Amino acid sequence: MSTSPSSDSPPIDKALHRRLLIYFFKFQFRPKYFWFRVIVMLSSIIATIAWDVLAPYQFKKLIDYITPLTPPLEATIWNDVFHLFLMIVFFYVIGLIARVCITSFVCLSSALVVRDLENECVEKLQKFSYDFYANSFVGSLVAQLRRVGDAYLNLEVEITENLLSLVIKVIAVGVAIYAFSPPAMLPAIIWALFFIGAISFLLKKKMRHDRDYSMLESKVTATLADSVTNFLTIKVFGREKDELERFKEVNHRKTRSMQYGWGWSAVIFTTQYSLNIIIQTFVLFYALSLWAEGTMTIGTVVFLQMLLVKLSDALVEFGNSVKVIYRSLARAEEMYVLLEQEPTLHDPKRPQKPKISKGKIDFKNVRFSYNDDDQEVFSELDIQIKPGERVGLVGPSGSGKSTFVKLLLRFMDPQSGHIEIDGQRIDKIRQADLRRHISFVPQEPTLFHRSIWDNIAYGEPDADEKAIRKVVKNSYLTEMIDKLPEGLNTLVGERGIKLSGGEKQRVAIARAMLKKAPILVLDEATSSLDSTSEIYIQNAFQNLMKGRTTIVIAHRLSTIARLDRIIVLKEGHIVEDGTHSQLLKKKGLYASLYNNQKDGMIGDGEDE
Ligand SMILES: Nc1ncnc2c1ncn2[C@@H]1O[C@H](COP(=O)(O)OP(=O)(O)O)[C@@H](O)[C@H]1O
Ligand SMILES: [Mg+2]
Repeated sequence: MSTSPSSDSPPIDKALHRRLLIYFFKFQFRPKYFWFRVIVMLSSIIATIAWDVLAPYQFKKLIDYITPLTPPLEATIWNDVFHLFLMIVFFYVIGLIARVCITSFVCLSSALVVRDLENECVEKLQKFSYDFYANSFVGSLVAQLRRVGDAYLNLEVEITENLLSLVIKVIAVGVAIYAFSPPAMLPAIIWALFFIGAISFLLKKKMRHDRDYSMLESKVTATLADSVTNFLTIKVFGREKDELERFKEVNHRKTRSMQYGWGWSAVIFTTQYSLNIIIQTFVLFYALSLWAEGTMTIGTVVFLQMLLVKLSDALVEFGNSVKVIYRSLARAEEMYVLLEQEPTLHDPKRPQKPKISKGKIDFKNVRFSYNDDDQEVFSELDIQIKPGERVGLVGPSGSGKSTFVKLLLRFMDPQSGHIEIDGQRIDKIRQADLRRHISFVPQEPTLFHRSIWDNIAYGEPDADEKAIRKVVKNSYLTEMIDKLPEGLNTLVGERGIKLSGGEKQRVAIARAMLKKAPILVLDEATSSLDSTSEIYIQNAFQNLMKGRTTIVIAHRLSTIARLDRIIVLKEGHIVEDGTHSQLLKKKGLYASLYNNQKDGMIGDGEDE
């Protein structure tokens, strides 16, 4: 154990763990389950006292009573013996009833606590805004949610049952020693302190390796997952051997931390049992010598021994409990950090009624950067868009087009300046009210694992079949849907059909077409479509754009050319603003981009 590897995992945040414990504790004692939890704890106390203290005590009385007797017994004496025997049975039954209470009330409350805990986590996750989801791994969020429930259940068992009964056993042994032999108190206390000190010290050593182990275990999984997803790249570049080496290296470190963890377990185990044997033999010898002097009855000798056996079992359990508690805290930690985190975007305290009707958009002096220390995407952006105007947003990638749209949808707030729609600041109304008035097709739309119908009707769940059929037709999905076994009711995703990028986009377009909103925003909405279907869909959009303020971001400038107005962005600044023909005459950035595409240099010259 002398050369342990350097620790891989970050240090334990004790303050965080304390807050998490308090959170869990308060959670399980919410009014809804308060009495259930109280009954569980009381039953746990009663079970321990009845089984581990009072039954052995009756046993002691029985032994003391029968030791001097010589059978055969007279009927009255036998009656007394039988009475003592019944008392033992009585306490066993009481303990049994208390145990039944524990299991049934745990059954009534714990599952509910976990359910509410998970619901609360999901509700909290929903409050986070766009940037949170953009920076989180979806898979890890799902795993974290599952871990929180597990962690809670483990903690509940360890704290409200195991630790509670340990405390009672310690008190019982203390009282018994004090009652039967006060001078033994001091050595007993010293021994107990020594035991707890030694085990805590050793557990701390072990814990570090346990934490390393669980971290490296995730790393092994992640390394493997990364190789599997990049399988094609690995093959193409012939790098199988290097990938295997990477895997072996992490796997080796995982194995080492596992070995160290087990090694320390062995040390802890040996220490615990050695200390237990020492105390038991010592107390037995001490009690026997008191018996020899005539100051202790044989029943008390047996009673003390029984208590000690129970106590030492409980102390061994204590080591396990501490381990489980630490592990559970570590497992729930990540999700709890999120629970404590304040979402960056809030609805206003007193939201105004939304007045969005015509769709006039004003960006006033907007300054925005994703993170405070990042470079600004917009330093001073002013844009006015008239009601019903159809605007194309053009610019090199990274110029801020998508950011503009995200600000309009209030996925983020600008650092200064503000955004108005129809003269009303968008941060003065509820986010849901704002977004209800905007139809949006994002750059990379995602679909629910639900039927195509549900996916299309997501923004208008009450839409009738006629309306759905119409947008299906306008987004050129009819042919594809007719081929499906269950048509519109076919499930999208794993067990249903897999859609290509272009088909997904068309479903997203149909979804936006169905939603009746005065503002329409298309962010590269047609980028995954082939040129022919794009032209068709553009025609359908022409209808949709009528009477709506429209913002179109598109790579193929042919789709932009016929809009009312074109704004050219470069590094967050408006460099050109005008109609297609005005900008062509200007012979600036737009003109050169347009001519390049027209000449077929970017490959879409066949569009017009
Ligand atoms: N979630 C994000 N976090 C940090 N920076 C981002 C994020 N999204 C975009 N950016 C940065 O903001 C700038 C503008 O990006 P974006 O609006 O997506 O450009 P466009 O849509 O015009 O290609 C880029 O420099 C990009 O790297
Ligand atoms: Mg973009």
